Amino acid sequence: MRIVAVSVVLALLAGGVVLVTSCEQPVEKKPAPLPPQPEGWDADIKIREAVDLDPAPDVVAVELEARLATLEIEPGVLTEVWSYDGQVPGPTIRAKRGDKVIVTFRNSLPDPTTIHWHGLRVDASMDGTEAMQEPVLPGETFVYELELKDEGTYWYHPHIDSSAQLGYGLYGAFIVEDPDEPRLGDELVLVVSDMGLDADGQLLPGDHQGWFGDFFGRAGGVHLVNGKVAPSILARAGVPQRWRIVNASRAHYDRILMPGHGFTQVGVDGGLLERPIADAQAVLPPGARAEVVFVPADTSRNTTIAVENAGVDRFHVGADPPRNHLFDVKVTDDPPATAPSIPTHLRDIDEVDVTGAREQTVTLETVLAEDGNTYFGINGVLDHGHDADPFMATVNTTEVWTLKNTTTMDHPFHLHGFFFQVLDVDGEPPPFRGWLDTVNLEPQQTVRIAIPFDDRAGMWMFHCHILDHADTGMMRMLMLMEEMH
Ligand code: C2O
Ligand code: CU
Repeated sequence: MRIVAVSVVLALLAGGVVLVTSCEQPVEKKPAPLPPQPEGWDADIKIREAVDLDPAPDVVAVELEARLATLEIEPGVLTEVWSYDGQVPGPTIRAKRGDKVIVTFRNSLPDPTTIHWHGLRVDASMDGTEAMQEPVLPGETFVYELELKDEGTYWYHPHIDSSAQLGYGLYGAFIVEDPDEPRLGDELVLVVSDMGLDADGQLLPGDHQGWFGDFFGRAGGVHLVNGKVAPSILARAGVPQRWRIVNASRAHYDRILMPGHGFTQVGVDGGLLERPIADAQAVLPPGARAEVVFVPADTSRNTTIAVENAGVDRFHVGADPPRNHLFDVKVTDDPPATAPSIPTHLRDIDEVDVTGAREQTVTLETVLAEDGNTYFGINGVLDHGHDADPFMATVNTTEVWTLKNTTTMDHPFHLHGFFFQVLDVDGEPPPFRGWLDTVNLEPQQTVRIAIPFDDRAGMWMFHCHILDHADTGMMRMLMLMEEMH
C-alpha cells in the first residue's frame, strides 16, 4: 500500500517513531512533522529584533534610538550611515494582533526626525507626520503608543525629510503576528533597499542631482537585502520558508524572482490574501510588502538558487531595467521532506460594501512650480508644507476614490492609517483580493479603491511613495472629521 509506505518514510525522515501500520488497519492521518531548516540557515541575514522590556504578555515595550553609525555596507568599506540602534535595517519590532506597543524613541541624530508606522492603523497623533506631531529634535525623546489592530508585515521610517533620511539608512520592519493563522513556513524577514554611495563609499547627499533626482527619483546604486550586499541563506528541499518582504527603497521598484524556481505569493501589505497566487513574482513598488512561501524543489538539492531583483520599467522606456542579484539560497543535500500543501483559502476577506459611498478623485499630475521647474503634484497642487486645502471625509463612512495617473511614469499611491481594496484597474477587476495601503499606478491608468474609514479622526496623509516625489509636493492631507461641515 503506497500510502503506508509514504508515511513510514516520512516518519523515518522526521527522525520520529516509525508508524506501526498494517494493511488491515486505517492509516494514521497525522502528517509527519517537518524537519527543521538547516542549522544556522538565516544567520547571515537575520535582522536583530527589538527586545521587549515589558513582561506583560500583551504589551511590547521597546527602546529605539536614531543615531549615526559606521557600518560595513559594501564589503570591505566603512560607511557612516544613519541608523536605528546602530543597525541597517533597524531592529525588527515583533508583536501580535491586539498587543499594545510602546516605543520610547530617542533622536540622537544631527537633524529633527519622526517615525511613521507604515500601514499600521494607529491613532492619528502617533502617525509620525508633521501635521500631527512636533518634530523630535536632536537630543529629544518621544513615546509612541501603538494599538495593533491587524496582523501583517509593516515597517517604520522617518516622515521628515523622509527621502534623504530613509536613503541614509533609517527604516525597519514591524511584524504583527496572528496567533490563529495557518503555519506556512519558517519565517524570514527580507527588507529590500538600496543606498547611494560615492566613490569612497560614503553617503551621497540626500538631494544629489538636484531637480533631476527630484523628478526621476533617487535610487541608490548599492542594492541591499537586510542591509547586506549579496548575502546567502540555507534551505532544505521540501521545507517551506515564509518570506515577509518589505520594499524600503526611496524610489526603486522591486520585482523579485528566482530564475528556474518558483514561489507562491500568500500576502500583501495588510496580511494574507484570500487565495494564494502560485508561481508568482513579488512585485513591490516603494513602500509595499509581499509575503511568499518558498519550498525548494527536490531537484534543487545541493544547488544554489539566485534570488534576483528584475526591477520594473517604471519610466516605460520599453527596456528591461538592470537586474540586481539580491541573495543566494544554498539548498543542502539533506533528503527532501514533503511539504504540506499551501491552503487554497488563506482567510476570509469580505468585499467592501460601497453602496452609497461618497466619491473623490485624486489625479497624479505634473505641476509647474514658481521656480520654473515641473514637479509631480496632486490635483494641480504641490503640497510640501501641508498647507493646501485638505481632502475631507467623515469617520465611520466608506469612500470610493478614483486614482488617476496622467504622467508618463509610474507612481505608488500610499494612504496613511487605513487599508483599502482595489475595486478595478482601468475598469477590469483586480487580480487578487487583499488589503493594501500602497498601490501602483502606471501612466494613464485609473484605479478605483474602496476605503472603509473607522473612528480615528484626525489629519492623515496620502502621497506618492517615491519619496523624492512626496518631498517635492506629491502629497496631500485628508481631514477625517467626526461630522462633515
Ligand atoms: Cu511609508 Cu507617508 O509613508
Ligand atoms: Cu511619484
